[in-house]
Amino acid sequence: MSVATSEAPDIFSAEFAADPHPVYQRMRDEFPVYFHEGSKSWLVSRHEDISRILRDKVITNENYSWQIAPVHGHTIINMEGKEHSLHRRLLTPFFHRGGLESFKPSIGGVAEELLAGPLAREQAAIDAGARTRGRIDLEREFFRLLPISVIARMLDLPKERLADFERWYTGIMEFIGNLADLPGPKERGLRAKDEMTEYFLPLIAERRGGDGTDLITLMCNADVNGESLTDEEVRAFISLMITAGGETTDRALGNMFMRLLQHPDQLQAVYDDRSLIADAFAETLRHTPPVHIAARTPTEDYELHGVTIPAGDTITCMVSAGSRDPRKFADPDRFDIFREDNDTSKAYTAAADHLGFANGRHFCVGAMLARAEVEIGANHVLDTMADLRFAEGYEPHEKGLFTRGVDELQVTYRPTSAS
Ligand code: HEM
Repeated sequence: MSVATSEAPDIFSAEFAADPHPVYQRMRDEFPVYFHEGSKSWLVSRHEDISRILRDKVITNENYSWQIAPVHGHTIINMEGKEHSLHRRLLTPFFHRGGLESFKPSIGGVAEELLAGPLAREQAAIDAGARTRGRIDLEREFFRLLPISVIARMLDLPKERLADFERWYTGIMEFIGNLADLPGPKERGLRAKDEMTEYFLPLIAERRGGDGTDLITLMCNADVNGESLTDEEVRAFISLMITAGGETTDRALGNMFMRLLQHPDQLQAVYDDRSLIADAFAETLRHTPPVHIAARTPTEDYELHGVTIPAGDTITCMVSAGSRDPRKFADPDRFDIFREDNDTSKAYTAAADHLGFANGRHFCVGAMLARAEVEIGANHVLDTMADLRFAEGYEPHEKGLFTRGVDELQVTYRPTSAS
């Protein structure tokens, strides 16, 4: 097995940017572990290897203390051991069962509010005879706005600042995805952090001790082993939440609808049976996931396929390559919401077959919230827009390395009576 050669695949290449999957195939087959000079890290691509690394006790998220903490601060994503489990226990109730159930009506309200304007605009154009079908950029006019609006509502933040939140999470995501260590993204990420800090610290101080039911007040007043979270800890978590739950869920919705539109028979099946949205989302997380990378640090020299990864080096797990590993999934490049080897009943838990939410102890804490947003958002689209199709002349273009998806999704539809 190879360590590093000139022919080793390059995740910074134009070939990868155009379509990473043939590159992933070469990685899995010929270079299952190798040192990638550009990112100064060890790339791992097979499902079995990634699953083992993400669950291994001798492997930590220490790398995020320089890859993520400079823009968020100290948060659960770079915590380990007792501190990590304590913070996860504190957050879990907000994102699961009762906490999530009580919040679902708000997600529906946000979805309805966001689509009302575009639907009315299109109906007016149809009524005026300007066109026969509605036309919308689902990505820019709905999917990009839904998750950030939901988080803003959970945190009880003013709608008027949504554009700032979006700018901040884009800056922070750029910093995190800056594997080539370029100065521009670094600078924009740190600026976003400063602006967020300036906005949030006074707000946190104001909410502390209050009787609000928003997540900021609840975090301020929470008891963590007899102590409260500091303002800085609450600020850092808000920052992580806006980023971790923003672009990811946005891209998940875009990627899911892109694939369904490319497979009209599967789209029709979802129109007819809405319980299949959960299967379509699970298959999207496997086939076209929003997040392609989870990075880790071995605390001791780590053996993989006869290669020794030195302790303290960075391992970059290409989770999206693992989710298309033919050693795990039959005909992995086929998008199939009915496939049996990506079990939907486990797809939103740490036991998932796909790696779209990673796994192990840092498995996405917002997985159930993401599912609720995708189900509610998708239902609202399908209820109000019949016969969805790509707009004429539009072709989807996927972009991105750390997160990947479409920046626009132009579709046409026939308005229903629900719209
Ligand atoms: C489809 C949408 C989403 C995807 C694909 C996604 C993906 C991921 C992945 C891959 C990780 C693991 C990162 C790693 O270990 O290196 C993660 C962790 C995390 N996610 Fe998500 N996520 C999504 C939605 C959300 C939402 C809605 C929230 C909350 C608002 C959220 C909050 C978090 C947090 C706090 C962590 C860190 C957990 C820990 O370290 O214990 N995510 N997510």
